[in-house]
Amino acid sequence: MTTNKKLEAWVKEIADMCQPDQIYWCDGSQEENDRLLKEMVDSGMAKPLNPEKRPGCYSFNSDPSDVARVENRTYIASKTKEEAGPTNNWVDPNELKDTMKNLYKGCMKGRTMYVIPFSMGPIGSPISKIGVELTDSAYVVVNMRIMTRIGKKVLETLGDGEFVPCLHSVGAPLAEGEKDAKWPCAPIEKKYISHFPEEKTIWSYGSGYGGNALLGKKCFALRIASVIAREEGWLAEHMLILKLTDPKGNVKYICGAFPSACGKTNLAMLVPTIPGWKVETIGDDIAWMKFGKDGRLYAINPEAGFFGVAPGTSLDSNPNAMHSIEKNTIFTNVGVTDDGDVWWEGMGVDAPAHLIDWHGKDWTPGSESPAAHPNARFTAPASQCPVIAPEWEDPAGVPISAILIGGRRPSTIPLVHQSFDWNHGVFLGSIMGSEITAAAISDKIGQVRRDPFAMLPFIGYNVNDYLQHWLDVGAASTEDKLPKIFYVNWFRKDENGKWLWPGYGENSRVLKWICERVSGEGKAVKTEIGYMPTEDAIDVEGLNISAEDMEELLKVKKDEWLKEVESIKAHYETYDINKVPAELKKQLADLEARLKA
Ligand code: GTP
Ligand code: SPV
Ligand code: MN
Repeated sequence: MTTNKKLEAWVKEIADMCQPDQIYWCDGSQEENDRLLKEMVDSGMAKPLNPEKRPGCYSFNSDPSDVARVENRTYIASKTKEEAGPTNNWVDPNELKDTMKNLYKGCMKGRTMYVIPFSMGPIGSPISKIGVELTDSAYVVVNMRIMTRIGKKVLETLGDGEFVPCLHSVGAPLAEGEKDAKWPCAPIEKKYISHFPEEKTIWSYGSGYGGNALLGKKCFALRIASVIAREEGWLAEHMLILKLTDPKGNVKYICGAFPSACGKTNLAMLVPTIPGWKVETIGDDIAWMKFGKDGRLYAINPEAGFFGVAPGTSLDSNPNAMHSIEKNTIFTNVGVTDDGDVWWEGMGVDAPAHLIDWHGKDWTPGSESPAAHPNARFTAPASQCPVIAPEWEDPAGVPISAILIGGRRPSTIPLVHQSFDWNHGVFLGSIMGSEITAAAISDKIGQVRRDPFAMLPFIGYNVNDYLQHWLDVGAASTEDKLPKIFYVNWFRKDENGKWLWPGYGENSRVLKWICERVSGEGKAVKTEIGYMPTEDAIDVEGLNISAEDMEELLKVKKDEWLKEVESIKAHYETYDINKVPAELKKQLADLEARLKA
């Protein structure tokens, strides 16, 4: 229990509304974790995996309707629609609260309400922030225990201090004596993932999956934190953080913003294919970046675990992720083999003759549908990653030398180019686009959408103010101290739809050039779109790639870029062109002029 009067009053208020059978304060202990998992195994929610093959691991299958973030049910309920801006769903906060209070009334009947005190960032660090999640899902508790730091120590550190209240319910009250037989959730039209930016409060209802339910992640560490970051002059971003060491032992820290399911976890754990280079992981999804006294940006990973995409993860593509998930891992919506191990498409091992698929049904290699859902995920402690950097929990953060941005663009965008300066880099961030992936429920999977800094679904306020904030952050320091910004694209395809670039570990070749550029070496030519590597600047030694493909990957295609300019103009229109920062409109006009010169 707590001495924090505000927390005590809030817990009581929510319990009165939601009417759980009991209230349980999580201490974060192993014993508590084991008990909750056993309860879920007994009820049939969780399947324990083979303790020889996957010690401490469990598999869950969600409801087929509850498999990813629901962007069309996600709300930024600021006082005015203008503050939420053109990219967010907005409802008047009072109206939304009335609607949700009706749903919350009695919604925890038959369930326990868990109180999860959690810290985003190392407990007690001056940059960390504390939240408290109230949830009726034990699945959420065991996932939050991996993804954040939870429990008694957090409450002690909180004392009488401030916390972000995060309310969550699966939205499936139980009748008298009823028990969950399967994954509880509400139908789509009753799902609400709501944020109240002025109050710094989160209300989530109706989904038990990922970012909809683990409220420390996208809801707090991005949507609410982006609002706080703007107020306080820092950045809360959808970025991986990696440590790159060259053969001489020189270290650079790099952040990367790629949209959901576009390669952050993979890049963060990359095994370089070029001799002598080393990559270590600081974070794989979220970065909080603040200025140090020296005028440089320092990043911390506010999370403590990985909630990673399973399909496509193999010993070949991401061995470090595979080793991170050998034990103490929760798998959601993967296939489970007859000997109690996991399997998914692209795991790099032959499909077994039989398994139980993510629907809980028999599956054979002849089955029509995949064994794992495309957004199936693993939840694993970051400390289990073999290449986790020793400084990953340093409260001071790590100084960032380069920021990468990118997405899935089959054409136009070259393998890599560098911005002329910070403001040009912010322009590149503002025009970033990617094919929509399975990480959010959508009927537009595969279509390209603009996704500024991979934050489109995660900006807690007006996108124009967000882009202006990026410009303001740059103005608060000097070019020599700011990270250099690079636009990368691992996803170029040829006319037959084949990847032009091998990706994964081979991306180290691009990191090498970026590292050289940051150090003031690295050969480059100035082009219409930015600095590009000279023909011989990317190290392709030992790589089986044709000269034509390399040329194609590193060519500025003016006709395609002029089409891109038109598409960017249309994109800015959707943001209300009058409100788009003047600097970015100037950058666009300059780009067009350079391309037409
Ligand atoms: P979120 O957790 O949703 O934010 O995703 P993420 O950005 O961490 O993406 P992740 O690293 O999990 O990769 C998602 C998918 O992209 C996986 O299926 C990977 O196999 C694939 N992928 C990652 N890196 C590359 C690459 O360099 N080339 C290609 N072709 N595919 C890649
Ligand atoms: C993403 O979609 O960017 C994720 C998964 O990292 S979730 O936690 O569901 O947001
Ligand atoms: Mn993500």
